[in-house]
Amino acid sequence: MRGKVIVLADGPAVLLRVPALLNGLRAAGLSVTVASSESANIFMPPLAYAALSGRASLSLSALSDEQLGEADLVMAVPASLQLLDLLSGEDWEGRLQALKRPLLIAPALLPTDMQPGFLDELAARLGSRFALVRPSAAAEPLGALGALCVASVEQCLEAALTALTPPDCRDMRLLITAGPTAEDADPARYVTNRSTGRMGVALALKAARRGAKVLLIHGPMTWPVPPHAGIECCAVRSAQQMYEAVMVRLSEHNAAILCAAVADYRPVAYSREKIKKGQESTFSLLLQRTPDILAAVGALPSRPFLVGFAAETNEVEANAREKLYRKGCDMLCANDISEAGSGFAVATNRVTVHFRDGGCQELPMQSKLDVADAILDLMLARWQSAR
Ligand code: CTP
Repeated sequence: MRGKVIVLADGPAVLLRVPALLNGLRAAGLSVTVASSESANIFMPPLAYAALSGRASLSLSALSDEQLGEADLVMAVPASLQLLDLLSGEDWEGRLQALKRPLLIAPALLPTDMQPGFLDELAARLGSRFALVRPSAAAEPLGALGALCVASVEQCLEAALTALTPPDCRDMRLLITAGPTAEDADPARYVTNRSTGRMGVALALKAARRGAKVLLIHGPMTWPVPPHAGIECCAVRSAQQMYEAVMVRLSEHNAAILCAAVADYRPVAYSREKIKKGQESTFSLLLQRTPDILAAVGALPSRPFLVGFAAETNEVEANAREKLYRKGCDMLCANDISEAGSGFAVATNRVTVHFRDGGCQELPMQSKLDVADAILDLMLARWQSAR
């Protein structure tokens, strides 16, 4: 992502967030400049901001209208109450009008300020020229200085990346399934697969940054879901629970991507007591089929635009096209999980997208985040023309 970001820094709260925030913004490809107040400079000297951002820092009091106007995003993270007063005061009224986007504010509040209604009042006072990243309720220790409530680095980064991403999916209410499911045999054992949920999380994150309202229904994942205001998470465990959650919530959505690696079979019986080993050297666990969620959604008389996935090891194209039609999808993303760098538990993926109306598009091997963007591009074009 390209863009110029100015981070306004004030007070001791800079110690809590600024280094990780600058690293994260730079890792996203953004060019970052810090404008620090005198009180921020007591806790972190200007040279530290320069070292972390790779650009000479500015003085908050000397920040010019021209510098602000050139920035694609200005963010006050974390913002002390003094900085909030300054930014919402008369001196900044005209400057805010000239910004390309609402100024992103993540207040750093004393636990005693976190009274019910305080943040709503603050949001109302700040108005539409600001975008508020709400602090987490739990106070974070700041050494001998006490403790502060402030949004996490991930939340602040996501808010910044979302503000800088064109909201071309804003009309999408997107249901995504992700991760494996776990089918319990007894209190200690279960049947599952190698999925970590990473592809589904990448799809949820990219869609939310592009303005979609996302419901992520996921099994027990080893890949974390970053906090994003546009993503609602619904954790389930088994295929049956995932099926029920999808069926209950489906009608609220106008698009669905089912990419969970749902277990195809579950133990016929669940033993409440741990199954003890016997004398025999072999052991059989009788399994029964789980519901096929994608096929069930595809068979509904009225369903959202539907994208499925196919994990294959052989005859990838033929199997993918057969699954696309049998499960009633509009699009199906096929990946060869036997290929190095593609499939489960890796950062990259190579998928070929097959379309119901014929044809396919091969995508290159790339990060799962980039695969997600490419799938959303292909989906958006067809989803819009199908509406
Ligand atoms: N799927 C599903 N419910 C299931 C099994 C699969 O919703 N019980 C969905 C997956 O989320 C994916 C698609 O169906 O979008 C294909 O999954 P895949 O594991 O490739 O195929 P299966 O249908 O399980 O067939 P097989 O394992 O025989 O290849």
